[in-house]
Amino acid sequence: MKPLRFGIVGCGGIADTHGEALTRLKAEGLAEIVAATDALPERAQKFTSKYGGEAFESLEALLARPEIDAVTLCTPSGLHGPMAVLAARAGKHILSEKPLDVWIDAADQAIAAAEASGVVYGGIFQERFSPAARKVKKAIDSGAFGEIVLACAETKWYRSQEYYDSGDWRGTWKLDAGVFSNQGIHSLDKVQWLAGPVAEVLSATLCPSLHRNIEAETLGVVTLRFESGALGTLTMTTLAYEGFPERVDVSGTKGSAMLVGDHLAHFTTKEPYTDTENTPDTAPKDTGENTSSNPLALTGDGHLGNIRDFVLAIHEGRPPLVSARSARPAVKLLNMIYEKARVGPYA
Ligand SMILES: NC(=O)c1ccc[n+]([C@@H]2O[C@H](COP(=O)([O-])OP(=O)(O)OC[C@H]3O[C@@H](n4cnc5c(N)ncnc54)[C@H](O)[C@@H]3O)[C@@H](O)[C@H]2O)c1
Repeated sequence: MKPLRFGIVGCGGIADTHGEALTRLKAEGLAEIVAATDALPERAQKFTSKYGGEAFESLEALLARPEIDAVTLCTPSGLHGPMAVLAARAGKHILSEKPLDVWIDAADQAIAAAEASGVVYGGIFQERFSPAARKVKKAIDSGAFGEIVLACAETKWYRSQEYYDSGDWRGTWKLDAGVFSNQGIHSLDKVQWLAGPVAEVLSATLCPSLHRNIEAETLGVVTLRFESGALGTLTMTTLAYEGFPERVDVSGTKGSAMLVGDHLAHFTTKEPYTDTENTPDTAPKDTGENTSSNPLALTGDGHLGNIRDFVLAIHEGRPPLVSARSARPAVKLLNMIYEKARVGPYA
């Protein structure tokens, strides 16, 4: 098996997490970084001097190189879709940071381009890879929770004005959107991964620009009806000083669970249930600095699991666990919420 050769597109904050994960996978003989590019050339230079590979002046120049098998997209969210289209046309496999794009039409164009080219297209939703999340998913899929009746998520985090000012794309409708798109997208993914697709956004009250000088929403409350008939709520903000761990809870007629960050805070089933494969830490941790107030305070474990699965999927000729098709419902729901709230392009 030859290592999969990666080009990194966008060498800002999250690219380091990809660099660290791919360095670990290089030690396992699975992958290596051979190229990087950034709109600011000094960032690509700095990245390649740390993780190896050649720095390229543009995405087009990087994509022209035949030795590159795959790209990871670590650029502003609203560039992911168009960049994935270019990568697919160049015959490169694609791993996109979350979300696939802010806008569903762009995500769908990228999925169509990848399917037409026959390349593997996956996304990052690293929270699906924690033992706690995997245990809950397996229990629900096995029927141990009975009929799911309710799925709720809360992302009550804190982002300062300085955070939004740190990149001119942050908080813009075109390239980022607001808390539901950037921070909350993990929950938009997780409630549907666990409880199935959302059929309808029943209500959506969002507050664009509240307490921050940005275009998109910093606060919102949404109610949902799932295709199964279950109901749900999403409560999200980046204004809650200094932030709580993200919470997702799912309730069924025979069992329920609550995920607090990557930890299992509650798990009950009416019938005995054992899962020897996934043994999560059940104690919610207060570790001081976390993603509630610092977007880059990630452990890196989730990304490593997510990126390893993508690489193995290509080596093994199977779809990745976070395929683009399975990352799509989060973007679809995001657009349904914005449409219901009549904000952004739906105003
Ligand atoms: N999975 C997670 O938990 C997680 C955490 C943080 C960020 N992210 C995602 O990662 C992406 C980037 O976020 P970030 O915080 O690293 O942002 P950032 O602003 O720190 O980095 C983005 C980089 O992209 C570069 N860039 C912009 N336009 C470009 C272009 N046309 N071509 C090449 N490079 C270009 C910028 O110069 C910058 O270096 C976002 O989509 C965000 O949602 C995911």
